[in-house]
Amino acid sequence: MSACSTNQATEPVSGSPSPVNFSLDVAPILNNRCIKCHGGTQPSGSLDLSSYTAIMAGGKTGTVINPGNSDKSLLVSMVTSGKMPKSGAKLTPDQIKILSDWVDTGAQDN
Ligand code: HEC
Repeated sequence: MSACSTNQATEPVSGSPSPVNFSLDVAPILNNRCIKCHGGTQPSGSLDLSSYTAIMAGGKTGTVINPGNSDKSLLVSMVTSGKMPKSGAKLTPDQIKILSDWVDTGAQDN
């Protein structure tokens, strides 16, 4: 242990995405805010957000996740623009950051 450890908190470097865990960080947001419409037998927009495999399969307009590129991922642009969730409160900036960091760090199934 360092004697001089006051500065060791990990500070987020703006512009570089933080590591995100799919099952701990991403899935709970989708489960709480998205799968009431994007789940079940007839998911809205033909997009099922209830599992990693289903998310990566995409919806009626094709894939919604472009690993490594949140700017080109429909799922991220929909929540950033506020079009999704289609009803209820928008996601918070922290929740949006989790989704976009997850995509930017490769959209891993972890
Ligand atoms: C109240 C229902 C509802 C909720 C909640 C909802 N959506 Fe949607 N979503 C829809 C509908 C309906 C569509 C089909 C397009 C439209 O009518 O706008 C859609 C379309 C989409 C699409 C485009 C799919 C495609 O391939 O065209 C994405 C991406 C999406 N939603 C993401 C999300 C995310 C992420 C959340 C949660 C943060 C969410 N949605 C929450 C109803 C909902």
